[in-house]
Amino acid sequence: MKILLLGSGGREHALAWKIAQSEKCEKLYIAPGNAGTADVGENVNIKVNDFEGIKAFCLDKGITMVVVGPEDPLVNGIYDFFKEDEQLKRTPVIGPSKAGARLEGSKDFAKGFMQRHGIPTAAYRTFTAATVEEGISFLKTLQPPYVLKADGLCAGKGVLIVPTLEEAKHTLMDMLGLDSSPRGGREGATPMFGDASSRVVIEEFLDGIECSVFVLTDGNSYKILPEAKDYKRIGEGDTGLNTGGMGSVSPVPFATKEWMQKVEDRIIRPTVEGLKAEGIDYKGFIFFGLINVKGEPKVIEYNVRMGDPETETVMLRLKSDLVDLFEGVATGTLAEKEVVFDERAAVCVMLVSGGYPGAYEKGFPISGLEDIWGSIVFHAGTALKDGEVVTNGGRVIAVSSYGKDKEEALQKSFANAKLIKFEGKNFRRDIGKDL
Ligand code: AMP
Ligand code: GLY
Repeated sequence: MKILLLGSGGREHALAWKIAQSEKCEKLYIAPGNAGTADVGENVNIKVNDFEGIKAFCLDKGITMVVVGPEDPLVNGIYDFFKEDEQLKRTPVIGPSKAGARLEGSKDFAKGFMQRHGIPTAAYRTFTAATVEEGISFLKTLQPPYVLKADGLCAGKGVLIVPTLEEAKHTLMDMLGLDSSPRGGREGATPMFGDASSRVVIEEFLDGIECSVFVLTDGNSYKILPEAKDYKRIGEGDTGLNTGGMGSVSPVPFATKEWMQKVEDRIIRPTVEGLKAEGIDYKGFIFFGLINVKGEPKVIEYNVRMGDPETETVMLRLKSDLVDLFEGVATGTLAEKEVVFDERAAVCVMLVSGGYPGAYEKGFPISGLEDIWGSIVFHAGTALKDGEVVTNGGRVIAVSSYGKDKEEALQKSFANAKLIKFEGKNFRRDIGKDL
């Protein structure tokens, strides 16, 4: 198969690494890729939302499968673009239709979907500028802290958790673009996240530990992949600002067989069946962002892609041929495939740019990559500049390792994290320590 993978992060390097190991993969292209993906395939300079550019490339190279890494092109309808195109309609796209991608693209849709199918999640309501007074009344019925979410995509920044009712009211007004005086709102009174927060979901706060569960589905059956926990905050002890993810660990100790059975019965199966019942075309990954509330799994969010940095551990723990599984997704024969997990633990420690998740500089040379031993290095934000690997993003390098347990794996990742050098490098030294 000639495969085109879309994306440029650590997730895509990990997917590319796994795809390239398959005997079924004859040629792998990554658009646009990064300095790391260039080692396992051929980078192509096309942006993930440039559908016409992707089409021209697919026809030119005879691409036989497209795998979509990030959510953006899915929410923008790349699946439907292929399906509706006379020349592309036989080329499978691994990823949901635009209608399916609403599970991530609209929090309001996702919450409504869960409600329709009895899937456990936090109680919620959705408000607009026209219903802000009702929103404030609803806030008064909740216990602090208050969770407010922009309905649309905000690159992971659209969720605000505030401690007091007063702040929650102001946050709601700001998100909706209403002047929240007397404290004084933001200048200009435009919605805080633009169109994405013209609708705001307010929900009950859930207290517990989070866990990411992934499945692949062909729309009828599904296969559960290894679960992982990610570390979102920049600071050790889960403090400071949210990031794209500072590390991940798989397996997750509290995701026992019994717990995963609850997840499958109450969440996974109803989701796949719900999509089918609503006539939504969905052939791809579903990422269940779960929280364990006193032993009971609840859905915090859906994503319609793999997680990052979870993929950098999940792919290590997937023994099965990923391209074979994708073939099952594309042809509706996933039920016949087998998913085998590697029994070892896998961890990932993310090296990030100084200043991230705030402002940071790019373009610093990265050294020490050739000294790594016993870990697998996935590039997240890197680029090649005059033959040299340089930093090109907030999250720069994911150092992934296997171990007989997570401690052994962490030892390797931390040792190698120290060997890789670039100006301003930062990483969390407490990944996995809370489990
Ligand atoms: P989301 O983008 O919906 O995953 O939200 C981002 C993060 O906010 C989640 O990973 C949680 O840590 C937190 N969060 C979201 N919703 C809730 C909730 N209802 N209760 C507690 N924490 C939440
Ligand atoms: N690690 C969380 C995400 O990919 O959204």
